Amino acid sequence: DHGERARLVEAHRAAAEFYRDRLLAPEAAIGRRFLSERGFERADAEVFGVGYAPNEWEVLTRHLLGRGFTAAELVKGGLAKEGRRGPIDRFRGRLIWPIRDATGDVIGFGARKLIEADDGPKYLNTPESPLYKKSQVLYGIDLAKKEISKRSQAVIVEGYTDVMACHLAGVPTAVATCGTSFGEEHIKVLRRFLLDQSAATGEVIFTFDGDAAGQKAALRAFADEQKFVTQTYVAIQPDGLDPCDLRIKQGDAAVRDLVASREPLFQFAIRSTIARYDLRSNEGKIAALDAAAPIVAGIKDVGLRKRYAIDLDRWLGFMDERFVMQRIAEV
Ligand code: CTP
Ligand code: MN
Ligand code: MN
Ligand code: MN
Ligand code: MN
Repeated sequence: DHGERARLVEAHRAAAEFYRDRLLAPEAAIGRRFLSERGFERADAEVFGVGYAPNEWEVLTRHLLGRGFTAAELVKGGLAKEGRRGPIDRFRGRLIWPIRDATGDVIGFGARKLIEADDGPKYLNTPESPLYKKSQVLYGIDLAKKEISKRSQAVIVEGYTDVMACHLAGVPTAVATCGTSFGEEHIKVLRRFLLDQSAATGEVIFTFDGDAAGQKAALRAFADEQKFVTQTYVAIQPDGLDPCDLRIKQGDAAVRDLVASREPLFQFAIRSTIARYDLRSNEGKIAALDAAAPIVAGIKDVGLRKRYAIDLDRWLGFMDERFVMQRIAEV
């Protein structure tokens, strides 16, 4: 209900402040070093409200209990979890990114491990809660929403550091899903800002790193339904660098260039498929055609399907559109 939500938002606001202040403590040197190695200065960390969760069991919990929040509230919001002798902090010894909804309310946290040998996964997120619905959460939406509307463009990246890198590099339309793949619910959130509801305009650009396990699933959300497929683009750095690493190695302009080099979703899917074959031989060309044909055959719009059949013929170098179309029709 409304009162409960307001209380949890207050608790999260207080927690974000607590973590932010702790980033300045001597023990958080490891967190500050992580940020500086990622190319972020103190002022950058402040803009994004980055913080540090001390490597202790109940410092946040005690702080918030002292402020009048109840143990039940802390557990319900995911800030604490039930320990053997009462609630303990969920995030310990980690760098903290406050996750805000579009209105700017803190609804959860993303937390990165700083010592490889520590327990738990590299990234920990707030669990499902009355505030935090992971299928809808887009990290950075509070900062990006205005520019998303203005530029009619949203850039989807993988991580918190990638959102920071993009914004600092001059791509202020970047948002990230938080450990889940991009899906239907995220589209709904974006549509509010992105699309002029009458004219279906706006671009959604997916930027993943090479090892991105979730990218196939993310693109499926668009490719399956194909309602927004003509507005869906992919921009992947040839070496598989994510925007954060790209900015460290090659600077701000390289991040902007990456986004500018976007390709339409189907073009990307077809080209990256045939790139796996040796197109110098007939055998390789036929194998590439057979691999790419199902993609083209799956394009629902007749005109678009035909265009890609013609392109595919050209990319394979057959100079025989009818042959390629025949093969596609046989899928
Ligand atoms: N992520 C998350 N929750 C998880 C796993 C991942 O929020 N449980 C997000 C993180 O923001 C992370 C991104 O998804 O940056 C991609 O995950 P991964 O490939 O593991 O990140 P890397 O780029 O390799 O991590 P980093 O840059 O922090 O070293
Ligand atoms: Mn990785
Ligand atoms: Mn990765
Ligand atoms: Mn990455
Ligand atoms: Mn990374």
